[in-house]
Amino acid sequence: MSHEGGQPPVVETHDLRKVYSPGTEAEVIALRGVNLRIERGEFVAIMGPSGSGKSTLMNMIGCLDTPSSGTYACDGVDVSTLDAEDLAALRRDKIGFVFQGFNLLPRMSALENVAMPMAYTRVPYQERRERAQAALSAVGLGERASHRPNELSGGQQQRVAIARALINHPPILLADEPTGALDSKTGEEILALFNRLSEEQHTVVLITHDAHVAAHAHRVYVMHDGGLHEGSHEDLRA
Ligand SMILES: Nc1ncnc2c1ncn2[C@@H]1O[C@H](COP(=O)(O)OP(=O)(O)OP(=O)(O)O)[C@@H](O)[C@H]1O
Ligand SMILES: [Mg+2]
Repeated sequence: MSHEGGQPPVVETHDLRKVYSPGTEAEVIALRGVNLRIERGEFVAIMGPSGSGKSTLMNMIGCLDTPSSGTYACDGVDVSTLDAEDLAALRRDKIGFVFQGFNLLPRMSALENVAMPMAYTRVPYQERRERAQAALSAVGLGERASHRPNELSGGQQQRVAIARALINHPPILLADEPTGALDSKTGEEILALFNRLSEEQHTVVLITHDAHVAAHAHRVYVMHDGGLHEGSHEDLRA
């Protein structure tokens, strides 16, 4: 693929399909030919009802699962050409995950949680701590580095999870219902943080069933029964 000197899209899928348990009675077509193109620095929301295929698509974008057919190029790399080791490296270098339940390790401090993804890199110990401290400061938690998750509010825990997702400077931040467990004011703070990250050329892909949350993104897609459709902000008010 040539991109005439420009950067390739961060996410580019062609006719992506996912069929669970094909050929059996339990067969589910979870993705039906999804075409998605996301450029660097975009903040995109994917919404849709329960069971429409949002998490399945997030797992494909995050290289946690492989499609039944179709192609996916992550930051210009066709992921079907990679073996398991290369895929793990691509996940580590290109993608930061923010999960709904925060997934923080309870016995570790905020700083240690944020430093975790550097465990499998060559970054020296002192630099890991400095980078983790800087990442916490960037999400407004510089003063809370030594706190454990249970000593932090829900919104602060979610911000620790975001700092952790960003620590290896991945171009893509994938967030599945990141505000689902938060009150609306704390949720607004997280969404403002995503907006700021996209201004700093991070690509943010936000999965949500909530139209008010999706309305914060620059661009909205809607999933229905495995199909992805470009939505408008007008759809969100309906
Ligand atoms: N591992 C699996 N095996 C079989 N079917 C699955 C599997 N994972 C998901 N499905 C089915 O695929 C469809 C899409 O599921 P998916 O988890 O992507 O939905 P979703 O949009 O994320 O829903 P929610 O909003 O409830 O999280 C559903 O019908 C689901 O039952
Ligand atoms: Mg889901």
